[in-house]
Amino acid sequence: MSTELPRKRDVPEEARRRAEFLRRELARHGRLYYVLDAPEIADDEYDALFAELRSLEERYPGLDSPDSPTKRVGGRPGERFEKVVLSVPMLSLDNALDMEGLDAFLQRTLHQGSEGYVCELKIDGLAVSLLYEDGVFVRGTTRGDGRIGEDVTANLRAIRSLPLRLSGDAGGRIEVRGEVLLERRQFAELNEEREELGEPLFANPRNAAAGSLRQLDPSVTAKRKLSIYLYSVVDPRSLGLSSQKDILLWLGSAGLPVQSAWEFCPDGPSVKAFVEQWREKRFTLPYATDGVVVKINDTEQWSGLGNTSHAPRWAVAFKYPPEEKITRLTDIIVSVGRTGAMTPVAVLEPVVISGSTVRRASLHNEDELRRKGIRIGDMVRVRKAGEIIPEVLGPVPGKRTGREREFMMPDRCPVCGTPAVRLEGEVALRCPNRASCPAQLREGLRHFASRGGMDIRGMGDKIVAQLIGKGLVRSLSDVYRLKRSDLETLERMGPKSAQNLVDAVEQSKDRPFAALLAALGIRFVGARGAEILAAAFRDVPGLLAASEGSLSAVEGIGPVMAASIRSFLDSGENRKLLGELSELGIRGALPASPEEEPVPDESSTLLAGMRIVFTGELDSMTRTEAEALAKAHGAACSSSVSGKTSLVVAGREAGSKLSKANALGVRVVNEEEFLEMIRSGRTS
Ligand code: IVH
Repeated sequence: MSTELPRKRDVPEEARRRAEFLRRELARHGRLYYVLDAPEIADDEYDALFAELRSLEERYPGLDSPDSPTKRVGGRPGERFEKVVLSVPMLSLDNALDMEGLDAFLQRTLHQGSEGYVCELKIDGLAVSLLYEDGVFVRGTTRGDGRIGEDVTANLRAIRSLPLRLSGDAGGRIEVRGEVLLERRQFAELNEEREELGEPLFANPRNAAAGSLRQLDPSVTAKRKLSIYLYSVVDPRSLGLSSQKDILLWLGSAGLPVQSAWEFCPDGPSVKAFVEQWREKRFTLPYATDGVVVKINDTEQWSGLGNTSHAPRWAVAFKYPPEEKITRLTDIIVSVGRTGAMTPVAVLEPVVISGSTVRRASLHNEDELRRKGIRIGDMVRVRKAGEIIPEVLGPVPGKRTGREREFMMPDRCPVCGTPAVRLEGEVALRCPNRASCPAQLREGLRHFASRGGMDIRGMGDKIVAQLIGKGLVRSLSDVYRLKRSDLETLERMGPKSAQNLVDAVEQSKDRPFAALLAALGIRFVGARGAEILAAAFRDVPGLLAASEGSLSAVEGIGPVMAASIRSFLDSGENRKLLGELSELGIRGALPASPEEEPVPDESSTLLAGMRIVFTGELDSMTRTEAEALAKAHGAACSSSVSGKTSLVVAGREAGSKLSKANALGVRVVNEEEFLEMIRSGRTS
């Protein structure tokens, strides 16, 4: 499939150059901020560059491009989230980098620690503070600079494990603190998706959690499946709590998630034993931890010890050393992804890092390979980014023998032999044989069956590889023609698991239109794009009838995405696939019944049962974003006002819909009032 690039019409050369410069700069500063955690410019300077680019793009639509930073929801913090002065500063922790450092802390606190210590695992996430009033979650903020945080209430509400109401006796104002995180698996999946979409990868779960929490659209946060663990109460005394142990027990009894690995340790030796015990065991946890936080148990002692300018004296973070190993890079192979992108991958002599054996590591692209100066046969330094993703840092030049070889990207697809192409403006080489390259089919099927797609439980990588290898699946629709007897021919597949897989395939037929769209793997169309398309065009016939112009007229769909969708729909082969899926009874491929309503996301039920119409110009978000926000809170949205409408949110210059709402006596609020409803958790 080829994709048309934005037409370079009617844009003065100077504007084009400036836009390119701004995009490069914004991408660089975004990476410095999110990936390297080392910003070079202040938020307002970033905002100014961003605003300049946006106004250029508005002025010259020919400049539009899906990879523009303006297409990304969120952006850097401070840009859109309200600032909140924290009731009590959120401090950091002093680190102990080895056992001696830990010993020094234990010695220093020998007396104050006589009532024991509490050891907790240090979670690699983002610190947040949650405020509950009379048991109800009313506001959540990030740590910000420790004194002023950002209000991320709506996004925190999208975290399923965060209780919106505390259990038990929890009157008055209670502020609790903890860490928002992404489990390893979600982190890896998120990065996989970003790699497919050509977006920059998150370097570690902390950056990924921060990026996810700072989304403007809470429904995006909801999809990222963040978790949260609490570990402190701002004013424990007001709750009659006088030790860290009691604090953790109280948090648990109030229904707040507390990580289970904590332990009361009566003395120094038991603290050290805890540290040793978790050194390797931590790799069995679903989330990444890079250390142990040791806290004096007795909170009376806390006030006596006090704080330094940035950290309490009654706690320390013991950091496990990051594991970096040296191993031989025996080969570089080229893997072919779902969209045909050819990626160099290092083949390594197996080495155990952070608890698991590493055999392969993506080298991303040829440029990166050259930059790192890696050759085949090199001894290389390897570590896991965020303790999860294997990464080749670079060669150990002193170990070269002279027999190492430079690697060259092949000019053909290594799987099907088709000459590779490089699309204009792209780094990656691609195999253009979308129709029958087995590698693309395999990756396409993996994606099709994945959780964000058709969600076929049990159709894992090994099964997919066999289905393709044995020729049982030659096109995605073949999945729905598989019989139990076919599956029983696969390795390690008994009658029972074959039946389970048949059942899972059957169940997946009921996935909605948006899931099918995401599953098809249309270039540039991720989960979010699929939802926008499904909401705008309802079903396959609706989408097939949409012109490139009407596609790109939808908020959130730029011209390149529109061109990609159109070219997908125009391919005879894809039309055949859609027709077959419809004949096979796949719900998402069938025409929508007239009364079918979009299914609300249930991350919050604040607006459940309400039918909301947005009209006029909104200031802080686009209409699509506003609708997503409303849906994330359980509302249904529609574009016309009727007797069934429960609420109209009127922006600037609202016209006939507002008049109609007034005539029908439908409740009308402005944008600020609507946002206040979401913030306060009250609709009245
Ligand atoms: S207590 C006043 N406990 O680590 C001390 N922090 O490097 C408050 N962290 O800013 C922190 N797990 O974001 C505490 N079990 C834990 C933690 C933890 C992770 C984070 C926290 C803090 C950072 C300091």
